[in-house]
This record gives sequence, structure tokens and C-alpha cells, in this order.
Amino acid sequence: MTLNAKITEIREKFLQELKLAKTSRQIEILKISFLGKKGSVQSLMQNLKDATQEQRPLFGKQINDLKLEITSHLENSLKRLLLEEETKKLENEYIDVTLPGRKHFWGRYHPITLTMNKMIDVFVSMGFAVEIGPDVDSDFYNFEGLNFAKDHPSRDMQDTFFITDDLLLRTHTSNVQVRVMERFKPPIRCIAPGKCFRNETISSRSHVFFHQVEMFYIDENVSFADLFATLNEFLSKLFKKQIETRFRPSYFPFVEPGMECDIKCIICSGQGCRLCKGTGWLEVFGAGMIHPNVLKAGGIDPEKYSGYAAGLGVERLAMLIHQINDIRMFTENDMRFLQQFSL
Ligand code: PHE
Repeated sequence: MTLNAKITEIREKFLQELKLAKTSRQIEILKISFLGKKGSVQSLMQNLKDATQEQRPLFGKQINDLKLEITSHLENSLKRLLLEEETKKLENEYIDVTLPGRKHFWGRYHPITLTMNKMIDVFVSMGFAVEIGPDVDSDFYNFEGLNFAKDHPSRDMQDTFFITDDLLLRTHTSNVQVRVMERFKPPIRCIAPGKCFRNETISSRSHVFFHQVEMFYIDENVSFADLFATLNEFLSKLFKKQIETRFRPSYFPFVEPGMECDIKCIICSGQGCRLCKGTGWLEVFGAGMIHPNVLKAGGIDPEKYSGYAAGLGVERLAMLIHQINDIRMFTENDMRFLQQFSL
């Protein structure tokens, strides 16, 4: 191929590639591939070497002209692209100083935390100590030590999230009872607030994740009457007024006798609404006299000591205090809801 043909070919190839280059970076790459040490223009020097003495000045000028032409194209494109890029960058970084500032929100406690703290305050004022148990616990503390025999149908009452055969997410705060009995001698007057987990269908009244405050008292001669008195005192302190309660006999393996406590639905004043399923009453806790087998499991002599226990649902109480008719609101993280609660 003659030098002229080669020059034409390189020029055409260059102009074609230049058209495709859209960024300053691509221009730099083009520059290297055409004008660099190993670039196409440099490769023409071979022709120069092979040329005769007479041809050489002309060839040299032709190559040089091509170099100048390519250089000037590259410089023009680079200038244009750099300007475009700079303009785009500035546009993106544009700050409208006339915009109003962003509002900052103060953090605040979750309504469940607020209610739980209130419950703790009331119990502490009544002489109860606070103990915390684990959310992930063994079958023994959640079931077996609480008089749930293995394979006993009463375990079906609580659809449990098992982690292994022996490890589970606690289904109630009652798992703290035997733990505390193992560590302390009566008199024991204790509450245990915390999270609980049950594999239940989520509805306006129940959730797979909820909170309880366990409350129990063990001493000589503790009676059912003490339990009633304590619960009534607690409720009137919590609601700051006399609360109508209803106690129904019920079954929990770890208490005997056992009962459930309902309080009159504050939302509908007992008329019947979605929250109380039209009954006018809301179940807020289970309670009863601690079963002798549970005292034994905790190393306490049931001949000498007796005790009562109750497990209070924090969500239910929070719903009543704040007139919330759907338990799901607590876990939806809707700021419009959460911002309504404060200390
Ligand atoms: N642990 C029971 C529940 O979660 C409530 C309860 C606690 C009942 C203590 C009796 C005594 O349903």
C-alpha cells in the first residue's frame, strides 16, 4: 500500500472513531491509539525509513500534516467535551439556596416502651423488683419447668417458634419464674417485662410479636385474695381511675387455680366494638396461684410457700390507654402514628 493510501485510511478511521467519542476520557484513549508511541501515525515512520532520499521530505511533511490535523481535531473535541462535562456537573450540584430547610424530628419512645415503663413504675412503687429473662430460651424454662409435660396437649395452646428441639423463642415471660426461684429465696416479689413470640395469625387483636410483664410473688401464706388486691391496685394506678374488671376461671398448667382477667373495653365502654369483638370486654392477662410443681422445679418447698403469678399483655393495655383499635399499628412504623406519643 502506498503512503498516500495509508494516510487516507488512517484519517478516515480516525474521523470515524472521533464521531463515536462522547467523553473526554474517550478522547484521551483515541489520542493514545493514534498519536501514541505505538499508535497508527507513528507506524508510518516505517515508510519514511524505506523511502528514497528525494521522497523523504515530502513523506515527512505528509505525515506531519496528518499529525497536526489529528491533534487539532482532538484538541477541539476535548475542549468541547470538557466544557459539556463541567456544565453538567455544575447543573447536578446546583443548590437552590432559597429552598426552605429540612425539618428535624426529635426521637421519641415507642408507645409500647412508654406503656411498659409506666407498668414497671407502678409495680416498683408497689415493692416489686425487676428481672429480665432471655428472649431465646430452653424448653425447660418456657415449658417443662412450668409443669407443661412433654407432649402434653396444653403445649398446643402456644404455637411456638422452635429454633432447635430444645431452643425456642419464648412464648411468654413466665420463663423468668423458675429462673428467679433458682436464684432467690422467698419472699420473692418480682416483675419481668419483655418480648414474646407466638406463631399466631396476625389480626387487629393478636400478633406474632408482642410484650408481656410477668408479675409474681412467693412467700408464706400468699393467697388468692392477695392476687386480686394486687391486680386491682395495679390497674387503678395505671389508668389513674377505678377500672371495671372481670375474672374468669381458666387453665394454665403452671397455676392452680388459674384465671383470666378482662377489663371493660375503654374504647366502646362495654358497648361492643371491633377491638373487643363485640363482647364489651378485653382479656388483658392470665393469672393464678403458682402450681406446686413449678415451685418444686425452682427449688422452693410448696409445703411451706405459696405464690401467685400473672402475665400482663402490654399491647392490650397500651391499646386501652391510648384507644388504639388495631395491634398492627405498633409494628408498622408509621411516623404519623408514632409521633403522637410522648412521655
Ligand atoms: N403466661 C401466660 C400467657 O402467656 C399468662 C400467665 C402468667 C398466666 C402467669 C398465669 C400466670 O398466656
